[in-house]
Amino acid sequence: MNILILGGGGREHALAWAVLQNPKCDRLIVAPGNAGIAEIAECATIDIEDGAEVVDFSEANAIDLVIIGPEAPLAAGVGDDLRGAGFLVFGPSGAAAELEASKRFTKEICDAAGAPTAGWARFSEAGPAKDYIRSQGAPIVIKAGGLAAGKGVIVAMSETEALAGIDEMFSGKFGEAGAEVVIEEFMEGEEASFFVLCDGETALPMGTAQDHKRIGEGDTGPNTGGMGAYSPAPVLTEAVAKRAMYEIVLPTLAEMKARGTPYQGVLYAGLMIQDGAPRLVEYNVRFGDPECQVLMMRLGAQALDLMQAVAEGRLSEIQVNWAEDHAMTVVMVAEGYPGSYEKGTIIKGLETLEANSGQIVFHAGTSRNGGDFAAAGGRVLNVTARGSTLGAARDAAYELVKAIDWPEGRYRRDIGWRALD
Ligand code: AMP
Ligand code: GLY
Repeated sequence: MNILILGGGGREHALAWAVLQNPKCDRLIVAPGNAGIAEIAECATIDIEDGAEVVDFSEANAIDLVIIGPEAPLAAGVGDDLRGAGFLVFGPSGAAAELEASKRFTKEICDAAGAPTAGWARFSEAGPAKDYIRSQGAPIVIKAGGLAAGKGVIVAMSETEALAGIDEMFSGKFGEAGAEVVIEEFMEGEEASFFVLCDGETALPMGTAQDHKRIGEGDTGPNTGGMGAYSPAPVLTEAVAKRAMYEIVLPTLAEMKARGTPYQGVLYAGLMIQDGAPRLVEYNVRFGDPECQVLMMRLGAQALDLMQAVAEGRLSEIQVNWAEDHAMTVVMVAEGYPGSYEKGTIIKGLETLEANSGQIVFHAGTSRNGGDFAAAGGRVLNVTARGSTLGAARDAAYELVKAIDWPEGRYRRDIGWRALD
């Protein structure tokens, strides 16, 4: 098979790594890819949000399957363009991608499906939004209605903070994404991510993970794209996963199908779990980043079989074979992230680290600098390891972190603390 992966972060490096484990893969191209991906696959520079360009590229390269990593091309309908041109695609239609692209859409679907989630209201003007906040009190959660790269959520612990948040949302800072604001009830509990594959008909739970969103140890400080993750998530016990499947995910998928926009791809349900009861925080229409890295580390070659079965509508014929193992990824970031940070600092020692099936460094944002790599983003490396226990996976991941020579790199030392304590 000739396979094209769209995207260029740590998630796509992990997808590429897993796809290459499978002998079915004859040729792999990643667009745009990154310096780490270029070590294992061909990289191509195309505009991945331009459906026509992706279709032309796929035709020219006799691609058999396109795996779409990030949300932007999905929301732009690149999956529809590819399917229209006859390609097999892993990833939902533009209409189904609304589950991530529009907070209001997700809330409406949950209400129609009876899926438990936070109470909510939506506003397109600051005045009524502030009145609503005064009537509800704090803590309360304010969200930009559209895609804001994970930065459009304010969890306000006081009314003052919430009112200031409304001004910020309507200031134009979030562009189109902030034209509508969703205000939600604050939910208490422990968060975890539940990943479900769906081919439009059949749904198959594919794994669980937890990430650490805050920059600081002990889960403190500003939010980031994710500072580390591990799989499985102990809080998502079999009983909780079953409830999440039957009470949240399956009703959502049924509602999508009933509306004529069946879901195909991986549905990532962000859950808040309290006393064994899951409620939906949000949906994403793609793998999480860095959650994908730990899932791929555990799935290996079968990841491609699963994604192909989704694209071909054959999910009912397949199952996920989980080993009794654990994986952890520690995200190394540039000093200053998530604020302003320097690019171009040199990372040494990566070439000498033999990638193996138990320890691997996925690149999130690197470029080549002669024989070395250089930091090219905020989140730069995803140092990932597998083990028979979570503790063993953690020890192996941090052992690998110590072997990386990058004085300007920063990382949290406590990834997995909730599960390990
Ligand atoms: P989201 O982008 O919707 O996942 O929100 C980002 C983060 O904000 C989530 O991972 C939660 O930690 C937090 N959050 C979002 N909505 C709520 C809520 N209703 N109650 C409590 N925390 C929330
Ligand atoms: N790690 C969170 C996300 O991918 O949305």
